[in-house]
Parts: sequence; C-alpha cells; structure tokens
Amino acid sequence: MTNIDTQRLPIGVFDSGVGGLSVLKILQEQFPNEDFIYIGDNANNPVGNRPTEEITEIACRIAETLHQLPVKLMVIACNTFTVVALDEVRSRVNVPVIGVSQGVKTAIRESNSNTIGIMATVATVNSHIHKHVAMEIDHEVFVWEQPCPELAGLIEQGHLQDDAVREAAKDYLAPMLERDIDVVVLGCTHFPFVRSVLQELSGDSIRYIDPAYETSDLVKRTMDSNNLHNPSTKQGHSTLYFTKDIVLGADLGAQFLDTDNFSVELICLLYTS
Ligand code: DGL
Repeated sequence: MTNIDTQRLPIGVFDSGVGGLSVLKILQEQFPNEDFIYIGDNANNPVGNRPTEEITEIACRIAETLHQLPVKLMVIACNTFTVVALDEVRSRVNVPVIGVSQGVKTAIRESNSNTIGIMATVATVNSHIHKHVAMEIDHEVFVWEQPCPELAGLIEQGHLQDDAVREAAKDYLAPMLERDIDVVVLGCTHFPFVRSVLQELSGDSIRYIDPAYETSDLVKRTMDSNNLHNPSTKQGHSTLYFTKDIVLGADLGAQFLDTDNFSVELICLLYTS
C-alpha cells in the first residue's frame, strides 16, 4: 500500500460500548477530514468488573477485527482496556495504538488544593495508574481513587439522568466531597455522558476533567510523526459498529457527536487465537 493509500484509511476507535463515543466526539472535532470506524462491544459490557485475562481477550478481539477492516491507527477509547491490555493489543497489530490518557496532568494544573479525585472502573482503580502518573508529576499531590462499579453498566443501559444513576453517582461522590477534592478526572469514557448529573450533585465545588482532550493531542502527535493525516478536504464519515444492539449508540451519536455524517450498524467480531 502506498503512503497516500494508508493516509486515506480510517482511524479505528474502540470501547466496551457507547463510552468511547465521548472520545470519538473530540477526535471528530480535532480531525474533521478523517474517517473513523468505531467498535463498541456492548455484548461484553461492562468489562470493568472482570478479571484481567478476560478484559485482555475482549480488547484483542476488537482490535484484531478493526485491523482487518483495515485502519491506519487505533485509539483505545476505554481506560479499562488501556490499563489492562495496551501492550498485548500493540503486540497483535502493526499499526500505531494509542491508549486513553490519564488526564491527571490537566487535573493537577486545575486543582487549587492539590487534591484530586479519580472516578473509574474497578479494574482501572486496581491498576493505580492515575496515582502513579500523578506522583511522577507532583509527589505532593493527594489522589483519591474512587471505584464506580455500577456506573458504566447503568449508562450502557441508558440511565443517563434518572434516579438509578443519581443514587449511584451520589454514593461515589460522597467520599470525595468529604475530602474537599476540587478536581475529579472522569477516568472511564462512559462518564462524560453523566457529567451534568455529577455537576448538579456536587455543585461548583468540583470541576470535572475529560481526558479525551489529552488523548486527542496524543493522537495528533502520533499522526504527525507517522505522516498519517488524510489529505482529503471533505468532511469525514464515521461508521459506528456495535456487537449487541445499536439503539443507544444511534441515540447518543445523534445527541453528542460533532457531525451527523455517521452510520450505525451491527458487527460480529473475529474469533482470535
Ligand atoms: N468505558 C470503559 C472505560 O473507560 C469501561 C466501561 C466498562 O466497564 O465496560 O473504562
């Protein structure tokens, strides 16, 4: 394949469900002339409470499916897949693979009290990746890691504003409100979809950081250094694939995405070895 053919390929983006659409939105804003292929494996959602071997297997199956389509670059738009499976995914495909950023650099910069919170899945919290990265930036920062085992699953079932999601969010916010944390990283790509509920429950005392902006900067640097930018001047198209049902994906896509130039379809993932 010539370089120009590679540049015209889509960028692959994937998650365990609709969460990664919050990353896709920012990528579409930053790269309006790129085509995207998104896979949300909602048949396997949520992944964040599963053992690491299962999480790795699910991530690799999605990545290998995307690789066959093909794509020129992959963005793992899921914190859980990133912390558990990034290295294994990289070893299975021969395109650049970018994981979602931790967002702690922005959080530390924005915090007045140098106390930050991380809301994430159980698997992500257990990796302590946010704390490690934060300590490397500023060893005096206080980091509260809050596991949110129910939140991604609720969002995936379409609970975006109702009592079920509010009750869960209240429980997860309580320890952070007690500790005067002023900045919280949304360490799961599903959570930006309930940001307004979180903001309403915590009031102005907490500011929420969406790491998708840091991720998008990393994608740009990788595209620059690998000469991968699409030379097209037309608006790009996004194809959103889901493995179980397309209803929530189509709905969130219509509400949140930066463009209406997208289509939504079901997909069967490849079986990998
Ligand atoms: N959206 C994913 C993340 O960023 C995980 C959701 C899940 O538990 O499946 O961690």
